[in-house]
Parts: sequence; C-alpha cells; structure tokens
Amino acid sequence: MDPKTRTIHTAIPGSEYDITVRPGLLAEVGDMVRKLSPSKKAAIITDDVVGAIHGSAVESSLRAAGFAVAVATVPSGEKNKTLATISTIYDTLLTWGIERTTPVLALGGGVVGDMAGFSAATVLRGVPFVQIPTTLLAMVDASVGGKTGVDHAVGKNLIGAFHQPIAVLIDPAALKTLPPRELRSGLAECIKHDIIRDADGFADLEREIHRALSLDIDYLASLVAHNVAIKARVVAADPFEKGERAHLNFGHTFGHAIETVSNYSYTHGQCVALGMVAACHAAKALGMIDQPSCDRVAALTRAAELPTGGLTLPIDTVVSAMIYDKKVKAGKVRFVLPTTIGHVTVRDDVPAGVVRDAVSSLTSQTPAP
Ligand SMILES: NC(=O)c1ccc[n+]([C@@H]2O[C@H](COP(=O)([O-])OP(=O)(O)OC[C@H]3O[C@@H](n4cnc5c(N)ncnc54)[C@H](O)[C@@H]3O)[C@@H](O)[C@H]2O)c1
Ligand SMILES: [Zn+2]
Repeated sequence: MDPKTRTIHTAIPGSEYDITVRPGLLAEVGDMVRKLSPSKKAAIITDDVVGAIHGSAVESSLRAAGFAVAVATVPSGEKNKTLATISTIYDTLLTWGIERTTPVLALGGGVVGDMAGFSAATVLRGVPFVQIPTTLLAMVDASVGGKTGVDHAVGKNLIGAFHQPIAVLIDPAALKTLPPRELRSGLAECIKHDIIRDADGFADLEREIHRALSLDIDYLASLVAHNVAIKARVVAADPFEKGERAHLNFGHTFGHAIETVSNYSYTHGQCVALGMVAACHAAKALGMIDQPSCDRVAALTRAAELPTGGLTLPIDTVVSAMIYDKKVKAGKVRFVLPTTIGHVTVRDDVPAGVVRDAVSSLTSQTPAP
C-alpha cells in the first residue's frame, strides 16, 4: 500500500467500514468505490462551489471505473440544508433511475455530507453511501459517525436519520482550496478531540499548528487521520449517543448558545473555540482543572487563529439560550467539562452563577481575530 495512505478501520455495531486518508485520492475514487460496489451506476451529490473545483476529477474517475454517473448539485451554504433541497436531490436521483445498490457519494463539506447522507438513508428506503469530505470540519467530524439530516425553521439538525457510510474517502489535498476561515473552523474540532481524549495529541498540535495553517498537506494528512481515529473510537463505543459520545459536545453547549445569539455571525469553529474557553473557566471555578491547563487551551486556540474573548453579546441572553439547547436532558443543562487535558466528564449540576461567570469571562479577554 502507498506509504502515504492511512486507513482507520471503524467497527460500529452493525456496520464496519474503512476511513482512508491519502493526498491525491480524489482522482482514484472510481477504483476505490468499484472495490466496494458492483453497481453500474453511481450518484455524486455536491454543492456548486465544491462541484466546480473538484467535481470533474471525481466524476471522470467514476466513469473510468465503469460507472454511469448522475450529479446532483445543490447551492452551497447552511441556509440550503433543508427538506426543500433534499426534494431536489430526490428529483435528480429518481428521474435518473437510482437503484437499491447504487452508491450515493457526498462530495463536499458537512452540509453536503448531512444532506447526501439523509437522501441515501431515505431514497428507496436506503442505498449505500460514501462520504468524500472536502472541509477540515467534515473530514475530522461530520463525515464520521453516521448522523445525517437537515435543518428546520425551528432549529438546526432537527430532522434526520442515522445512516452509516460504506466508506469515508479523504483527500487532504482538497484543503488547499478551502477558505482559511473554514480551515480554522475545523481546527477547533481538532483541538476539542485532543482535550477530550489525547494529551499527547494536544502537545503535538501545540508544536505543529503552524504547519496546519500553512497547508502542509503531509501534516494535515496525519492530523486528519489522528482526529478521525478519535472520533471513530468515541462513536464506535456509543453509536446512538447514549453516553460517552456526549463528550464530543465539549465546548458546544456554550458554543451553540453563542452561535444562536450571534445569529451565526461567527463560524461554528469560532463558537466552539469560545465555548471551550468558557467550559475551562467553569471547570476551573468548580475546582476540576488547574489554571495552567486552561491557559494551554486558550493559547492553542489563539495559535489556531480562533477567538478566546472579545464577546460583545448580552451575557444573559447567551445563558438563557443554553436552556433551549437540544442536548438538555430532563430540564438540566449538561456540560462537558475538562478535568485535565485529555479527559472530560459530564456535569448537570453546574450552578447558574458559574455558567454566567464563564460566559462573562469571554467578554473581558482579547478580541476575536
Ligand atoms: N453529521 C455530523 O455528525 C456533523 C458533525 C459536525 C457538523 N455537521 C454539520 O456540518 C455542517 C458544517 O460543515 P462545514 O463546516 O464543512 O460547512 P459547509 O459544508 O457549508 O462548507 C463550508 C464552505 O466551504 C465550501 N467548500 C467545501 N469544501 C471546499 C474546498 N475543498 N474548497 C473550497 N471550498 C470548499 C463549501 O461550498 C461551503 O461554502 C453543519 O451543517 C453541521 O451541522 C454534522
Ligand atoms: Zn462542532
């Protein structure tokens, strides 16, 4: 096997598949999918931005491997992650003649992955699905775990299904065309993964973060593989989010509230960054973690060019938005809080004053980059 190939085997009860990370892989998708599927047809779902940059490489490699190809192109952006867009995908797939064995390939960021996965879960009551993520966030987070779905006017990700892919194919070289703010957004999830599971990974990232920001593809390949392995391990242990999968929400309880109250003017990664800093502040106030660890989290977050302060939103509005987070169980807000770098625990007994102080601490620090 090519020494630049990294394979992470995922064993989720009821479905086992490989996640393959290799620079240049986009041009080999056809051969890789052919090994998994005898189908005569394959469908690509992409968005207008990614399709224009990377669509033809994937499409021609599928044709070269003997697939007849349909492409459903959706408009890019979270605002299009809706049932209305899913309906246009069904139109393309069904009028073309999709069959039960036809693999559906998601080529794009998390928005495309979530919608392609939901389409694959539901069209003809389920067809095989392949993730080909092209943002760092989709590579290290959204493409792994089998959650698919769309947003509703009432809130994000409220309609969906679990549908595991038959493969996740990752070409880190695709990140070269990604806007820098999207790269940084994915780095927030990488920092999160190390805080919840891997102190050595965190130390590596402290040393090497400049290589990620400068788009060193060899480094990004190893970073993506490291993070995919963490996410896959957590998901395999808890595929339906009954327990430890909640650890992946570290930084997200505060983060989602900031995202909502700011009306999505921050990227998701910027909100997660602020959320992780707030969670450290709360954990420190509860005597769970020491200050030097919190300082390392803030320093690495800043080094990733993500905000750790400068929040100008009304504090009480952010605090009350947390109550509406869909992860609230039996009226209690559950916080994932660190005890050290590499380990977190879930608490549903955080006093309101501690929560408020944690949000408030975000207003007094350095402004967002
Ligand atoms: N299913 C899950 O477990 C899970 C986990 C985390 C996030 N998500 C979802 O993922 C979504 C966010 O994903 P995202 O951050 O990837 O956003 P995104 O899919 O909107 O992509 C961000 C932007 O980058 C563009 N883009 C993508 N790849 C590119 C490339 N290689 N070059 C140039 N431009 C490129 C896209 O067209 C888009 O404009 C949210 O909807 C979120 O709910 C899902
Ligand atoms: Zn996230």
